[in-house]
Amino acid sequence: MDKEPARPAPGHEATRTLYGWRATSYELQLAPYEFIRRMAVGQLKLRSGDCVLDLGCGTGMSLPLLREAVGSAGRVVGVDVSADMLVLALSRVQREGWTNVELRCAAVEDAALPQRADAAFFHFTHDVLQSPSALDRVLAHLRPGARVVATGLKWTAPGLAPMNLLVGMHMAQSLTRYEGLAAPWQPLQERGVQMEVDTLMMGTIFVARGTYMRAPVGQGSRTRRGDSPAP
Ligand SMILES: C[S@@+](CC[C@H](N)C(=O)[O-])C[C@H]1O[C@@H](n2cnc3c(N)ncnc32)[C@H](O)[C@@H]1O
Repeated sequence: MDKEPARPAPGHEATRTLYGWRATSYELQLAPYEFIRRMAVGQLKLRSGDCVLDLGCGTGMSLPLLREAVGSAGRVVGVDVSADMLVLALSRVQREGWTNVELRCAAVEDAALPQRADAAFFHFTHDVLQSPSALDRVLAHLRPGARVVATGLKWTAPGLAPMNLLVGMHMAQSLTRYEGLAAPWQPLQERGVQMEVDTLMMGTIFVARGTYMRAPVGQGSRTRRGDSPAP
């Protein structure tokens, strides 16, 4: 972990408590859903040398796929507010000896991000998707044309009430915000990400992918590798 204070930013206590409990069992619980992660990373259409942001990176389960896609010339920046989750991601990075994978123990809302990333990945991070300041911050650090992929849980059709009961149980273990669950990708669309959405598992999981088209005011379009400081 680098460039961020060792102590996470204040706020987000509910998230840290939730994932403090879950951290050690998290990877086992997520193992059956690896096919969704693979599909979602593929939708990022990463190229060698790209810079990709993994927002709410958790224990770093996506890092191997992201690192493989951008290669040794690329850059992966993972951000997570839970130190209990991120310490497991850090072990993974150290074990693999990756020098171009950086981890930030911070809320996305406050994290230092690269000036111009090529892609942003929100994999099962509903709380981040529903945070206007987190999204504004991420999008301000994407180049125009950057790829954006978001996945996660959603309510399915009311007629499938038993499925929604199951979804609700999963949500209780994963989320601290319950708004926007009919179309969790909508805040990205409202901010200029043109998205297509697929649903899986009887409409309980979404995979939204798209391109960020709105150039941030007063900034150029070339990818730069420097970091901007946290506010
Ligand atoms: C369900 S886990 C997903 C982890 C990882 N993306 C994966 O696919 O395995 C959600 C993660 O988002 C993190 N998170 C939630 N809100 C956050 C925020 N505002 N800033 C940074 N991380 C956040 C949590 O700490 C947790 O690790």
